[in-house]
Amino acid sequence: MKIALIGYGNVGQALARLIRRQQSEYPFVISGIHTARHGTAVCKKDAAKGLSLTPRFGPAMGSIEDFLRASGARVAVELTPLNPWSGEPATSHIRAALDRGLHVVTANKGPIAHAYAGLRDQATRRGVLFRFESTVMDGTPVFNLVRRNLPAVEVLGFTGVLNSTTKIVVETMERGGTFEQGVETARRLGIAEADARFDTDGWDSACKTAALANVLMDAGVTPQAVSARGIGRITPERAQELSRSGKTIRLVSRARSAAGGFSLRVRAEVLEKTDVLASTRGTSNLLLLHTGLMGTLGVVSINPGVDQTAYGVFSDLVEIADAVYGE
Ligand SMILES: NC(=O)c1ccc[n+]([C@@H]2O[C@H](COP(=O)([O-])OP(=O)(O)OC[C@H]3O[C@@H](n4cnc5c(N)ncnc54)[C@H](OP(=O)(O)O)[C@@H]3O)[C@@H](O)[C@H]2O)c1
Repeated sequence: MKIALIGYGNVGQALARLIRRQQSEYPFVISGIHTARHGTAVCKKDAAKGLSLTPRFGPAMGSIEDFLRASGARVAVELTPLNPWSGEPATSHIRAALDRGLHVVTANKGPIAHAYAGLRDQATRRGVLFRFESTVMDGTPVFNLVRRNLPAVEVLGFTGVLNSTTKIVVETMERGGTFEQGVETARRLGIAEADARFDTDGWDSACKTAALANVLMDAGVTPQAVSARGIGRITPERAQELSRSGKTIRLVSRARSAAGGFSLRVRAEVLEKTDVLASTRGTSNLLLLHTGLMGTLGVVSINPGVDQTAYGVFSDLVEIADAVYGE
């Protein structure tokens, strides 16, 4: 199955390595890679193994449409950076791929947070699959869990601890460090956004909340509809005082169906250290789904990294291959 990658950074390269490792069982071929500054690489028609892990890039092709045509791919994988304000240009990349009748996988939460219903409906009209497992919990099954394993279960709401940088900042302040030292630690670990205020002011969590609500509850919202406040007003003194009394702080996303709409909010909440929501540390994340038939159930990821994100994309590709070539 020929695959075109749009974006070849941390996730794209981890995915290419994983595809190479699994190639005897899953004959996926990366037939094209398109980037911003590095340019475009497209496979020669006879190259059965696809592009090498370090392909020779030529000048960037003029448009996504030209690239997708040249790649001859059956599936487009969108892995460009998140634009939290609009979801672009990733949303347009996905539209262009769906327009060509390609299946699409993305790890970019922007399009899911801003334009999910339109993309889902476009994929349905074209008779192709659109998958995005890695967008919220780095590859840990959330969307596929609900779609595949919880038939007839209505998701009424969810509670999540979904941002890593804020956990590192709180933990640093509890140990006597400053807010800025916490942000610096998160940067060194490679988990902070380029502009870390995006994490600490709650905007990253707002994007994840909107994405989950759009897919699991058909909310049809954008991140701007989430009432979000971050951890900016918490001081080291306050964090230490809470810690001494057995409490801690987590940035918590909460969503529920409300009369005439949805209640979506992100807040820094004071929790008992024994609270299940307080149990995640570092890059570990946790999501509880509040449902009708199944009550409350949850998933937790322990210290996921880029290889787990790549796996989420890979698992989506396996589902598409099963649909295309038969199980
Ligand atoms: N890293 C993680 O652990 C993780 C976890 C979950 C989700 N994600 C999501 O996965 C996506 C990719 O993350 P990443 O860490 O791989 O990002 P990254 O390392 O910054 O790589 C981004 C890639 O996209 C390319 N690019 C940027 N703008 C482009 C454009 N307009 N057209 C075509 N290519 C473009 C870049 O090109 P150049 O190489 O030429 O600069 C680069 O190859 C993001 O949306 C991120 O939020 C990442």
